[in-house]
Amino acid sequence: MKITRLLINHMQQPIGISDKELTFTWLIESDIRNTKQKRYDLQVALDDQFEQVIWHQNEWSQQSTNLAYQGPDLVAKTIYFVRVKVEDFAGNESVWSETATFETGLLDSDQWKGQWVTTANQVINQKDQSFKPFTGLKYFSVDKPVKKARLYVSAYGIYSAYLNQEKIGADYFTPGWTDYHRRLQYQTYDITEALAFENTLTVTVAEGWYSGYLGWEKKKDTYGNFNAFIAQIEIEYEDGEQAIYGSDGSWSELSNHWLKADLYNGEIQDLTHQSQTLAPLQVVSMTKEVLIPQINEPVQKQEEIQPVALFKDPAGRLILDLGQNMVGWVKCRVQGEAGQMVTLVHGEILDKDGNFYRDNIRDAQQKDQFILTGEIDTLEPNFTFHGFRYVELINFPETIKKEDFVGIVLHSAMPETGYFETSDPLLNQLQHNILWGQKGNFLDVPTDCPQRDERLGWTADAQIFFPTASFNMNTYNFFRKWLKDLRDAQLESGEVPFVVPDVLKGVFANNASKTTAVWGDAATIIPWEMYQRFGDKAILQENYETMKRWVDYICGQGAEEFIWDTGMQLGDWLALDAEEGSFSGATDEALIATSYFAYSAEIVAKTAKVLGKHQDYKVYQQVHDNVKEKMHERFFTPAGQLISDTQTAHIIVLLFHLYPIDAKDKLVQRLIELIELKEKHLDTGFVGSPYICQVLAENGAIDLAYHLLFNRDLPSWLYQVEKGATTVWEHWDGIKADGSFWDEGMNSFNHYAYGSIGAWMYETIGGIKPKTPGYQQSIIAPKLNQQLTQATTRFKTLYGDLESAWSVKDNELTFAVKVPANTEAEIVLPKVSNLMLVQREIEASWQPIHVGEQTGESIVDLGIARFKVHQELSKPVHCQKDELLVFVGSGQYEITYQLGNEA
Ligand code: BGC
Repeated sequence: MKITRLLINHMQQPIGISDKELTFTWLIESDIRNTKQKRYDLQVALDDQFEQVIWHQNEWSQQSTNLAYQGPDLVAKTIYFVRVKVEDFAGNESVWSETATFETGLLDSDQWKGQWVTTANQVINQKDQSFKPFTGLKYFSVDKPVKKARLYVSAYGIYSAYLNQEKIGADYFTPGWTDYHRRLQYQTYDITEALAFENTLTVTVAEGWYSGYLGWEKKKDTYGNFNAFIAQIEIEYEDGEQAIYGSDGSWSELSNHWLKADLYNGEIQDLTHQSQTLAPLQVVSMTKEVLIPQINEPVQKQEEIQPVALFKDPAGRLILDLGQNMVGWVKCRVQGEAGQMVTLVHGEILDKDGNFYRDNIRDAQQKDQFILTGEIDTLEPNFTFHGFRYVELINFPETIKKEDFVGIVLHSAMPETGYFETSDPLLNQLQHNILWGQKGNFLDVPTDCPQRDERLGWTADAQIFFPTASFNMNTYNFFRKWLKDLRDAQLESGEVPFVVPDVLKGVFANNASKTTAVWGDAATIIPWEMYQRFGDKAILQENYETMKRWVDYICGQGAEEFIWDTGMQLGDWLALDAEEGSFSGATDEALIATSYFAYSAEIVAKTAKVLGKHQDYKVYQQVHDNVKEKMHERFFTPAGQLISDTQTAHIIVLLFHLYPIDAKDKLVQRLIELIELKEKHLDTGFVGSPYICQVLAENGAIDLAYHLLFNRDLPSWLYQVEKGATTVWEHWDGIKADGSFWDEGMNSFNHYAYGSIGAWMYETIGGIKPKTPGYQQSIIAPKLNQQLTQATTRFKTLYGDLESAWSVKDNELTFAVKVPANTEAEIVLPKVSNLMLVQREIEASWQPIHVGEQTGESIVDLGIARFKVHQELSKPVHCQKDELLVFVGSGQYEITYQLGNEA
C-alpha cells in the first residue's frame, strides 16, 4: 500500500495560492483487496525535513479527499511542505508519501508594491473603436546567486508576459474572466530559472473580456474603457537579500507588432514592425483590493491538430480543413513578399454545395491578419480564440501546403478523468463530440458556444452539462471559481442572471426579466451536483446563502403562492414542439418554472440537512412540499394527467417526483405514448433532453431509452454524428436532412447543451454512480443492450480509477470492475431473463442463489446461469427480486455469466 499522489487544492505543487480554502487529497494504491484507510497522519511543515511542522493531524478517519487545512494562519509568499501516510483496517501501513509543496501568494493588497500602469499613448482603431495592445517594459539585472524569483502579475484586460523573449508560464487569456470590479485574479510564476544577468521583462496587454467586444449587440468596454497591468518581480538571493521591482512610472512602453487584438474579431499583427521604446507608462489609481490568487486551472495549449485537407471550394476560396471543430487558433509558417498581408477567416462548416460558410458566426469576425516580412514567418495569434473547423486563406502564396499549418487547441487545463468506449463506433463518436464540446467551451468559464458573438456563461447550459463535464474532466476548481462568479453576479433580490459573469446586466430581452427558471437554478443545482461528484461539503457551505436567496426570490414571484408563473421564461429552450418562430418549446412555462422551484427548494432543504441547519431544513422542505401540492391542483387533471401534454412536462415531473401519488404509472405510460407518437423520437429542448433517457430507464422503459440513443434519423444524437459532426450542435436539426441549415441567426455547431446525455451514458451503459457523495461508496450498475457487445467506462474519482467494463463473447458475458482503494462498491448485475444478448432470450425462473467454492473461484449458481466470480468477494452476494447485488471493497473483480443452452 502506498500513497501515489498528494494533491493540494486538486493540483500538483501549486504556487501563488490563497491561505483560505486549502485542501489535501491523496491517492492510495494497494495490491491488497478491500483496502480501507483507518487512520491518516498528515504533516504540513516549513522545511522539507519536517523539522518545523506547523500542522500535524494524526486522525482515525477514512477521509482522504478534500481534507481542509485547519492549522495556524499561513504566511504570504512561503513554501510549505506536506506529506501523509496511512494505515488500513488490516493493519498495513504505508510509508510517507512523496513530499508535496505549495506556496502562498500575495495575501493582502499591501503586499503589492507594484502600481497599476497603462499606456500614455492609447491608440484607438477608428474603424471599430478597439484599443491596440500595449507593452510595458522593465530592465533589471541580477548580479548574485538567486534562491527563488517570482513574478506576480495581473491586468485589466488580458496579458502575456515575457522574460528575455521567452514566454513566462504556459497560460493564455490571463488573468481570466471574473467580474473585475469584485474579484480580479492574479497569477504567480516561478521565474528563477529564466533569469539572466541582464533581464528584460515585457508585459503586453490586450482588451480581452475587460474592454473588448462582448455579446451580440456589438458592445465593448463592459468593465472599463482602458487597459492596465500590475506586475511585481520578487527576487530572493542566496545571501538572504531581497529585491522587488514593481510596475510604476519608471517602466517604459515598448512599441509592439499588434495593430489590433480582440477575442471575437481576431488580430492584426505587423511582423515587419521594429520595436522601439516609447514614453514611460502612466500610473493609474485603480484598486488593488480586488486582487486574488487564481484558483482554477489556467487556459493553456492542450493539443495540436494536423489539418486533413487544403482545397478550393466551389466558389474558388482556398480552404484549410482541420478535420475537427476546435477552439483556439491556427499557427502557420509562411514566406511571402515583404509587406504582403495574409488573412485567415475561421468558420465551422461548409454549406450543402461545399462552400465555406460563416453566416452562423454572426458578428464575430474570427479573422487573423499578418503583414509578412519576406523571410520565413511564423504566424500565431495570442489574444483571441476562434471556434472553427475550416479556415479560409486569403492572399497566401500559391506554394502554401496544409503541412505548413497546425491547429492549436486551447482550453482550461483540467485533467481528463473520463473514458467511455463501446462496440458502437457511432456512440464512440458521440462521446468524442461531447468531449470536444467541452474542450471548446471550457475557457475559464463555461460558455454556450465558442464561435459567434456570444461565448457567454449561460447558466442553464452550464447547469445541464455539469454532470457530464464532471465525468470527462476534473471540474472541481473550474466550477468552484465559476460559482464564485455566480455569487458575485447574484442580484440583491436573489435573482441569478442569465449569464455569469453577468455582462448582460438585465439587458437581455429588453429588461423584461433579469432571470428565468432552469437558468437561475444553476445556483442550487451545480453546488449540489458538485457535492455529489466531489463529496466536499465546503462547496455547499460557501454557496449556501446564494442557494437560499435564489429560492427565497422565487417564493415571492408567483401570482399564486408556491407557483412561479410570472416574468419571462425561456422554457424548454429550442424544443422541437415549439410553435413556428419560437425558441421555447410547447411545454407550459409555468410548469417548468414551478417544477424547478420545487427542485431547488428540495436541494436547499437537503443541503441544510447536510450542513446541520435543521430549522432551515424544515422551512425549505415545507416550501418543496407546498409547491408540490400546489402543482397537483394547477398542473394535473383530477384524473392525474398533466395539463401540458408534452414529453418534457412528463420528464420533469417524473424526474423531480412531483406527481400525485397514484399518477406515476399513467405519466410514464403517457410519456411512452408521446414518444411513440413521434415514431419513437424525442422532441425535447434544453429542459427535457438531458433527462429523457434517464427518466425512461428509471421507470422500466430502458429499451425505449436505448432506442432514442440509437436513433439515427432526425431528431437524435446520432443523426448529427452520421452527418459528420465532430462536436455537438445547438439544434437537433442544425443541418436538415436536405442539407440546408436551420437558420443563420442562431445555429452553433459547437454547443455542449445536448451533450448532457453523456452523464447518462456513463451512468447507464457503464453504470457508474456515486452512492455516497464523492464516490467513497459507488454503485456499478450497467444496463446492457443488445446493440452493444462491449462497453468500457472508466472514471478517475478523487480516490482513483473506478472502472466498469463488460463484454459478450462466445456466449460468455464478462463484467470487469475496478474499485479504487479506500472505497467500496455495490455491483448490481442484471437479471438473466433480461439479457437479450444472445440470439434467444433466456427463460429464467429466478432461483435462490447458492455460492459454491471451487479452486479459487466462487461459482454463483442461479439455476439457469452460472456466474463465475474470479476473485473472492469481500461480502456475500445478495439476491434481490430483479438483480444480483455484489458488495465489494477495493480491488479488481471479474464476473462471468455463462450464457449456455438453457433457453
Ligand atoms: C445561447 C444559449 C442560451 C440561450 C438563452 C443562446 O443564444 O447560445 O445556449 O442558453 O441563448 O436565451
